[in-house]
Amino acid sequence: MDDALKLELRLPHSGAGAICASLLDELPEWFGSPEANAAYALASEANPTVVASVGGVAVGILTTIKRAETAAEIYVMAVHRTRHRTGAGAAMLRFAEGLLVEDGIKFLQVKTLADTHPDVGYKKTRAFYRSCGFERLEVFPTLWDPDNPALQMIKMIQG
Ligand SMILES: CC(C)(COP(=O)(O)OP(=O)(O)OC[C@H]1O[C@@H](n2cnc3c(N)ncnc32)[C@H](O)[C@@H]1OP(=O)(O)O)[C@@H](O)C(=O)NCCC(=O)NCCS
Repeated sequence: MDDALKLELRLPHSGAGAICASLLDELPEWFGSPEANAAYALASEANPTVVASVGGVAVGILTTIKRAETAAEIYVMAVHRTRHRTGAGAAMLRFAEGLLVEDGIKFLQVKTLADTHPDVGYKKTRAFYRSCGFERLEVFPTLWDPDNPALQMIKMIQG
């Protein structure tokens, strides 16, 4: 499926904010907070963002933020719903990991909705991260707000 995708890396400050905002708008079940979405778009504007395109149309984004010398975080990730489960997410992640390893990153974390919450969409999200090698690290019940417990997952990408 990678062959069907044209993957591009947007370097810091190169401006993937509008693409991010447009993709998040299409996924209200996952991204229902305008305030949070605005923060995600700002992050995509200012941080390394892998943009997956098909036929010149952006279908996915993955923004990472470096948190320490050897650690980074997936800050926001989304694939257009018409492309879910077609390998775009895994392809973007592999691409991002390769670049992060070149930059000396060993640990990649992501925070997502914890499984103490019944949301069915995020159940699929956690399945995606697990299938890509992420493991559960810790649940933070009030990091975002008590109605949205955060699960921190981590993956060693260089070791
Ligand atoms: C999560 C997301 C980025 C994954 O991208 P994707 O392109 O749909 O995922 P892929 O096709 O690359 O899936 C790779 C593997 O993950 C697992 N997976 C993905 N979606 C799954 C689902 N709905 N149920 C179970 N496993 C799933 C599977 O093992 C899959 O491999 P397979 O299809 O060969 O079995 C995408 O579905 C998405 O945008 N979801 C909504 C927004 C979101 O959750 N963002 C992350 C917020 S933290």
